[in-house]
Amino acid sequence: MLGKGKMRLPAKVKLVEVGPRDGLQNEPQTISTAVKIEWIDRLAGSGLRFIEVGSFVSPKWVPRMADTADVIAGLAVRDGVRYGVLVPNMRGFEAARSAGVKEIAVFAAASETFSRNNVNCSIAESLGRFRPVCEAAQTAGIAVRGYVSCVLGCPYEGEVPPQAVARVAKELMAMGCYEISLGDTIGRGTPARAQGLIDTVAEAVPVESLAAHFHDTYGQALANILAVLEKGVAVIDSAVAGLGGCPFAEGATGNAASEDVLYMLNGLGIETGVDLKQLAQAGQFICDQLGRPTASKAARALSGKAGR
Ligand code: HMG
Ligand code: MG
Repeated sequence: MLGKGKMRLPAKVKLVEVGPRDGLQNEPQTISTAVKIEWIDRLAGSGLRFIEVGSFVSPKWVPRMADTADVIAGLAVRDGVRYGVLVPNMRGFEAARSAGVKEIAVFAAASETFSRNNVNCSIAESLGRFRPVCEAAQTAGIAVRGYVSCVLGCPYEGEVPPQAVARVAKELMAMGCYEISLGDTIGRGTPARAQGLIDTVAEAVPVESLAAHFHDTYGQALANILAVLEKGVAVIDSAVAGLGGCPFAEGATGNAASEDVLYMLNGLGIETGVDLKQLAQAGQFICDQLGRPTASKAARALSGKAGR
């Protein structure tokens, strides 16, 4: 731990880039498989070692992820880079295994109504689907990450008690997930609530196994990240250019922008192994493809377009 004044922060942070999955799953535009492959390779080139590259879900539910197998088949082999995919059931697991991935993520929610809207079943039913997935993954030597959505609010139910998050997180850990990413799907959280959430969940799951996944709908993502770093969380999910959103959480906007997160971590002297300039270039690459400006303030400033 690093003492800076009264702040106690981790010396190192693992960054999980979710842009190619969370960033593109809700995009109105189609991005070609070749562009996705080049983008992911640029992200890896910046030093990122954990990149979520797609989902093996129903293409009727999420058409933008339908080419995930082709994306994986086209990726350049880079030592030390983990490419992850979302998997909702055994069918998704079989597709992930055939594609040769070494890491998958199962995704549950702390809100019943969101669970029904996102994966068409109750929380308990979704956990029942993940159990055989985790067992099969263990046998196949595939690492499993677990997500809990709606940790600081639900688009349908409003408030979500932290105890509900802790219960789901604990079950996912018990199934064999090595890490639990806490998703503020609709970006409603604020720093004190984010810290309270970590206090509660850390009673059920060691804080070393927790990751933070904050959407920036209300402009709170960076503040929330700093707040949970102070609580010892050392794994942060983000998406370059602030891309992202869930098709089943109306009004939710992008993730914390990876460039902004890295700029803050660099300023705090926290090690990540990621190069900010190259990361910003990877963000610019996908913005050029999408034909719109980045949502990352750090990327805008670095490109000289921030009106300095
Ligand atoms: P369902 O309709 O209840 O399932 O969907 P089903 O078993 O009845 O199957 C329906 C159809 O989907 C069938 O095809 C199946 O074969 C097919 P049909 O016979 O109609 O042609 N199917 C599949 N196809 C491909 N891959 C599969 C698969 N499974 C079934 N794995 C299901 C259930 C979970 C599949 C569906 O609800 C679904 O795909 N949901 C998508 C969920 C999703 O991707 N959400 C976004 C990601 S989560 C997120 O963004 C939050 C996060 O970022 C954290 C945060 O921010 O909070 C992670
Ligand atoms: Mg998300």
